[in-house]
Parts: sequence; structure tokens; C-alpha cells
Amino acid sequence: MTGDADERALAAEDRMTDDERFSLLVSVMGVSDLITVRDERIPDGTPMSAGYVPGVPRLGVPALLMSDASLGVTNPGYREGDTATALPAGIALGASFNPALARESGGVVGREARSRGFNVMLAGGINLARDPRNGRNFEYISEDPLLSAALVAESISGIQAEGVISTIKHFSLNCNETNRHWLDAIIDPAAHRESDLLAFEIAIERAQPGSVMTAYNKINGGYAGENSELIQGVLKGAWDYPGWVMSDWGATAGWEFALSGLDQDCGCQIDVLMWGAEAFGQSLRDAYANGRLPKERLSEMVRRILRSMYAVGVDRWGAPPEVDMARHNEIALEAARQGIVLLKNDGALPLAPDSSPRIAVIGGHVQVGVPAGTGSTAVVPPGGYAEVIRVGGPSFMGATRNLYLLPSSPVAEITKLLPQAQVEFDPGMSPAEAALLARRSDVVIVFGIRVEGEGFDSADLSLPWGQDAVIEAVAAANPNTIVVLETGNPVAMPWRDNVKAIIEAWYPGQAGGQAIAEILTGAINPSGRLPVTFPADLAQTPRPDLPSMGEPWGTPATIEYSEGAEVGYRWFAQQREQPLYSFGHGLSYTRFDYSDLLVLGGDTITATFAVTNTGDRQGADVPQVYLTGAPDGARMRLLGFERVDLKPGESKQVTVTADPRLLARFDSEAGQWRIAAGTYRVALGSAADTLSLTAETALQAALFGR
Ligand code: BGC
Repeated sequence: MTGDADERALAAEDRMTDDERFSLLVSVMGVSDLITVRDERIPDGTPMSAGYVPGVPRLGVPALLMSDASLGVTNPGYREGDTATALPAGIALGASFNPALARESGGVVGREARSRGFNVMLAGGINLARDPRNGRNFEYISEDPLLSAALVAESISGIQAEGVISTIKHFSLNCNETNRHWLDAIIDPAAHRESDLLAFEIAIERAQPGSVMTAYNKINGGYAGENSELIQGVLKGAWDYPGWVMSDWGATAGWEFALSGLDQDCGCQIDVLMWGAEAFGQSLRDAYANGRLPKERLSEMVRRILRSMYAVGVDRWGAPPEVDMARHNEIALEAARQGIVLLKNDGALPLAPDSSPRIAVIGGHVQVGVPAGTGSTAVVPPGGYAEVIRVGGPSFMGATRNLYLLPSSPVAEITKLLPQAQVEFDPGMSPAEAALLARRSDVVIVFGIRVEGEGFDSADLSLPWGQDAVIEAVAAANPNTIVVLETGNPVAMPWRDNVKAIIEAWYPGQAGGQAIAEILTGAINPSGRLPVTFPADLAQTPRPDLPSMGEPWGTPATIEYSEGAEVGYRWFAQQREQPLYSFGHGLSYTRFDYSDLLVLGGDTITATFAVTNTGDRQGADVPQVYLTGAPDGARMRLLGFERVDLKPGESKQVTVTADPRLLARFDSEAGQWRIAAGTYRVALGSAADTLSLTAETALQAALFGR
């Protein structure tokens, strides 16, 4: 099939006129709140979306209709009344540690995209969570390359199985939003291969996304979209990637990016605002006319786009798929359930279903719904948002910053599941007022929310709008206080020791209120595990101060990712710092025990062990296998994990085989992965800081890959 795609791309490109070739290289934005005039390249009747690329009907090449993205089909003002399933945040999917669920979520996105005629989803966000202030961490998956790749690959495969192309993005190091268009991300190239690039590498291998979207930022001096070393050298060279490389929206500063390997310029109207002209418009044609853009390069750009169209099958669509929205809601609900992480529980949870306590539910707009992240992944759920509260902020991204509330009210759902209880609501407007209700209640459930999203990094780890003070006051008034967080990132918890239980529900999507209520009442046993480390404070992280934070939009900035490959839990292990909550941490209403760890070496490491549910109710656990020591330097690496669902007393044997790249170092001089011969230490645990069994094995020396 893919050999066929190559041949068909070759034949179709060969028959094209130069005008047809150039037309495929530019993606035009549809009419929305941002671009108010329709570009004449978009024909009448085309559904408006983030991008449109005309087809070549005489050759049977369909137009490309591009839409965001990973959390559902978005509609930021493009199509009146068009709504879609709003899935939980990517970081919540990360917390499920469940590739099969990622696959199902991808299917939701793929089917809903196809039913609307969209054949390219701008999905597959995989930037690593290097900084807990990054506004877009909620869109991505985790701080770990393996976990991120395992889930993103399945989500992309779920989309592409529906005949819809998926991107993977943003290549690479779009790890902060502060002045992202002027941001130079500095990293050691070998460390880059062992971290963010490894996530891309594994996910691309597994899922073969039709397109790779470059990042807005620069990497080691040059814009991601003109970084020949990465695009030509690594992506198209070492990895032999056959698909096309598209820019982020308005990120192409000049036609010369085509010479560095960028195949398509997207969001061309934003080019004009940012750089004064469309990058792949007249100037690219002029460069071709005067020989600076070689004919072979032009042909290659076109062939790569066609090849992905044929490989994924966007030219072979039959009737639109039947979309079962009720089933899609079930998947959104299951994803929310599996993504919620129980961080702390001093016996307050689950709430007893048959007692009739007075329950106070405070703050977080819980009477309305659950929050969602902002920016290009924001999905309008069926029936519309329950409420949109304008937040705003500096720069043109301020217009996209709103508190979106999806209609799944936690207070209504708690009331539904606890019919005997007397549930009362307080908005959490003032600490004193919230304390009044807390004082006369048996249990208090207080919510903490944040608005996070594209274009903004958080200034610190606190909860906004004085919510920390409300939680403090409520906890002082009532010892039975439970905190539910709905955030896109770790937050500080100055009140942690004064509350009985803490739940991180992230942005839980359109069924989030129900999932939260089910976890609180024990209808569902919590099984989420942290996909990111929660630092005790920013001083523990690689960059206590974020360069350029607070500078006006447009200020050039440089961020040195000096932690290199030691991202997240790897950094904490190297620095011997104890975080607030570690990567991999998450409690359950049952208990699990690990035994019989057997580790084999040779070419790679294979770990076999048993996991047993020693508690008295069914639940899912995520045992994790880590590398903790190697002959060529101490380091920590997640080697594998498996989500296991067990009945009380049930045991299961699990085998995890490490990808050898996780055991190796990238040797820049050789341009290959190198495994040093010697003894490797491995540990099995329930979190990066909770390792219960250890073992050692020997590996042979190896040099492999590119
Ligand atoms: C975002 C991309 C998105 C694109 C199109 C950009 O602002 O960075 O992730 O796919 O817009 O909406």
C-alpha cells in the first residue's frame, strides 16, 4: 500500500503543471473571528477551518481540509453551531497510561473529522512537559518520551484508521509559550535526541503520521521551520520520514525555509501579519523562476504531500461515517475516569454512599461545569459551552483566553450520585463566606481551577483568583476537606497538610463532572497516574526564573534547556530532590503488590514480574519499570509500563521489554545510539520515587540506529 502510495505520488506529481504544484504548498485559513475576509482560493461551500489547500481535480487529488485537533474537532468561530465531542486534556490521557484508550480517543476525532469533510487533523501534540508553567502542557501528554510516544502514536493511528491524515507536532521544543515566535530554545543536540526527539522518533515509527508540523520557536539559533539539521538531517534523513513537513500557522518567515526541508506553509494570512508577505507565495515562485528553488525540490515537496494523501487514503473516501455521539460521550467519560489522579487520601474517600451527610461543594464554577484549556485545541461541546467567561490578556493571543466551562456540572453529578446527602454549593468567592458553609458541613469538597492555554505561560504555580486562600479558610473551618484540582499543570499546594484528600482531575472534558463525582463516591476506583512531576516549588525545577517572562509580546528570548535529556522525574532523580508528587504517582481504593522481578539482559532489558491486587475491590494499577543505573553514567529512564486491571486477590504476570534507545546514549560524533557494555540497574515501582524491587543485568556493547 505505501509502495503504491510512493508510485502514485511520483506519477501524479509528474503530470502536474507548476501552478498546480505551487497550489499544494500553501494552506489558507478559513473565515473566523481572526481572519474575517474569505480568501478567494477557498471555493464556495467549503466548510471553514484552520486550513484549506486546493486539490487537483483533473488528477483525482482532493483538496486538503485541515482542522484542530487532538482533543476533538475544534470550531473557533469557523462554522456556526457546529459542535463536537470534547475529550479530556492530553495530559489527562497521559495520566491514564493507557494506549488503547488513546486509540479510541483518536477514533472519536477521526470519525467526527471525516463526517465534516476534514481530512487533515492538526493533532499529535507531543512536546515534553519541561516546564510546569508552559501554557500548552495540558494539550500534550507527559514529561517522558516513552509514555508520550506510546499514547500519541495510538491517538494518531486512531485518527488515520478513519482515513484522516494526522500531524504530529510541534517539531521541536515548543516547550514554553512566552514569546514563542521569538524564542530560541537552546539544547545540546545529543540530549535533544534522548528526550523530545526520541518521543517524536518512536511515535513516528509506530504511527506513520502523514505530516509533521514544525514549531514556532527557534532551536539553537534558527527557526524550527528552517532547521535543516533537524528536518533534513534527522527527520527526513536519519529517520527516513516519507511524509510532508508543514509549518505552524504563520511561522514561515521566508521562502528559503523550502530549501531547509519545509514542504508546506500553513496559515499564510498570518505570514503577512508577521513577516509582511506570504512565504510560499510569489517569492517562492520567483525563486523557482530564477533557479534558486531547484525543480527537484519543488517536485519533492509535492510528492511528499501526495504520498501521505495516498498512504492514508484521503482520496478513497466513500460515504461519510455514521457517528455515534452517545458512544463518543462514553469514550470521553472513560478517558476522564482513567485520567483522574488521586494524589492524597487520609481515609476521606470514597464518600460513603449510604450515609446522609451535609456536603459543601465550593468554588471552581462547579454549579456550571468543568473548565477546558484555551487556544487552538478548545472544542465546543454538543449543546455549546455552558458558559464562556472572558479573561483576556496582552498580545493578540489575549483574545483567545477565556474560561470555557463545559456543561458537566460536578455539583449536579455529586447530588445525583448521593441522593441521601444534603449537597450545598458556595461559589468560593471569599474565604470568609466559604468558611461559613464549610463550618456547618460534614464534608467539604473544594475545587481549584486555572485557565491555561496557548500563548501564555503561568507566572507561578499558584491557583488564581485567591483560591488558595479559600482552600486554606475552608480547611481551617472543617477538618474533612477534600480538594479537587482542575488544572493543566502541577500547582503548588500550600494547604496540602491541612486537607484530607486531593484529586487532580485536569481539564476532564465534556463528561468530566460525572467522572469526578464517580471517583469521589467510589463508583469508579481511581487509576490515573501522574504523567508529570509536581514540584514542591519552582526552585526545584531547572529554571526557577523563566527568561523573558513578563517582557512584552515580540521580545526576543532565549531559553537554555540546560537540563538536556534529564526532564521531569529524570531531573529530580539526578538532583536528588523530593518533589511534592512524583511522576507515576497515583492512589487507588485498593492496594497492589509487586513480586518475582526477573530481569534479563543481552541486547536489551526484559523485565518480568507479578502484580497482585491485595485489597478488597477491583482496580487498575500501572507498574513502572525504570533504568536507575548504567555503566556510562547514572540516570533514570522509564523503560516500560503496563496498565493492569485486577479483581481482588487476582495476580497477573507482566513482561516489559525496553526499547534499546532508552538504555543507550546518543553519540553525536558517531551519529548513532551507543550502549556501553556492563551492568545495568533496574527498578520496579508504583512511581518514579516509589521503587519497591530492584535487579541488575548485563548488556553487550552496541552501536545502532541513526
Ligand atoms: C498552533 C497549532 C495549531 C494551529 C492551527 C497554531 O497557533 O500552534 O498547534 O494547529 O495554530 O490552528
